[in-house]
Amino acid sequence: MKRFRQYRTSEEVRDKYADVILNPDDFIYPYFVVEGEGITDEISSMNGVFRFSIDRLIEDVRELMDYGVDKVLLFGVVNQNIKDERGSCGLHGDSIICKAVRDLKKELPELTVITDVCLCEYTSHGHCGLLHNKDVDNDSTLPLLAQMALSHALAGADVVAPSAMMDGQVEAIRTVLDENNLKTRILAYSAKYASSFYGPFRDAAASVPGFGDRKSYQMDYRTRDQGLEEIAADIEEGADMVMVKPAMSYLDIISKASEKFPDTKLAAYQVSGEYSMLMAGAANGYFDERRVFEETLTAIKRAGADYIISYYAKKFFKSNR
Ligand code: PBG
Repeated sequence: MKRFRQYRTSEEVRDKYADVILNPDDFIYPYFVVEGEGITDEISSMNGVFRFSIDRLIEDVRELMDYGVDKVLLFGVVNQNIKDERGSCGLHGDSIICKAVRDLKKELPELTVITDVCLCEYTSHGHCGLLHNKDVDNDSTLPLLAQMALSHALAGADVVAPSAMMDGQVEAIRTVLDENNLKTRILAYSAKYASSFYGPFRDAAASVPGFGDRKSYQMDYRTRDQGLEEIAADIEEGADMVMVKPAMSYLDIISKASEKFPDTKLAAYQVSGEYSMLMAGAANGYFDERRVFEETLTAIKRAGADYIISYYAKKFFKSNR
């Protein structure tokens, strides 16, 4: 008989044998940014997550960095009345995201700022690209994504993260960054599945599609190897880092990707619905909030993620101290 219980006799012994430990530098913390001043607006479907105006954002990031987390992912949230078919308000150098990037990099130069590059937060129809005959047109969307990425990069973003799931989006962005001599890195949302778990995010970012769904561009979760093909294509197109999203129901994909692409940093996104589901369960007393996050986040790292994007990152390291 092989005796395993000797590895579990006390907390100290268990700590000694644990080989997957969460560190603040594994984490990327997402933020929703709005125009205005003094705004801290809790998102009803995401307990403990807020939409911040830039002044409040800076204060919150400062606190986040005190806990050791130094990477953020920014999403812009704008009023419905400035949205149009092309998502114009998200493209130019004075967009909410460009302003937030400039101010953050000025106040907190050590911070790594990553921006989400997608049209859905800025289009009147809520889809991730330009519409053509009631479907999202791939190739005419590419220049717009490139334009958005370029303006984020010029504002000082360290990393741009295209999430629209258009074919060729990484290449289009790489090309425009190279033409402008920018060293901005690309974190590609490569294996992004059409998931029910994005529900609370769409409420937070006011990006619910006006009609239909995103199944003609985001991945079908009934496929097995396509996620790896998407990742391979993005690396080929010039991605510096790749992503699997969501995380908790896609640990197999994370695991395979980390084995297949050992030289490329892999991020995994514990998305809004995963976060809200755990928060709701904890609020109902089904399990302990901190423990359930520690377990699920550890599982994501154990599967092979180098970086974890999680709405719980701040609270986790705050209560760790
Ligand atoms: C933008 C985008 C979405 C998320 C990240 N970037 C929404 C979507 O694709 O519908 C989801 C993040 C989350 O649920 O936490 N396309």
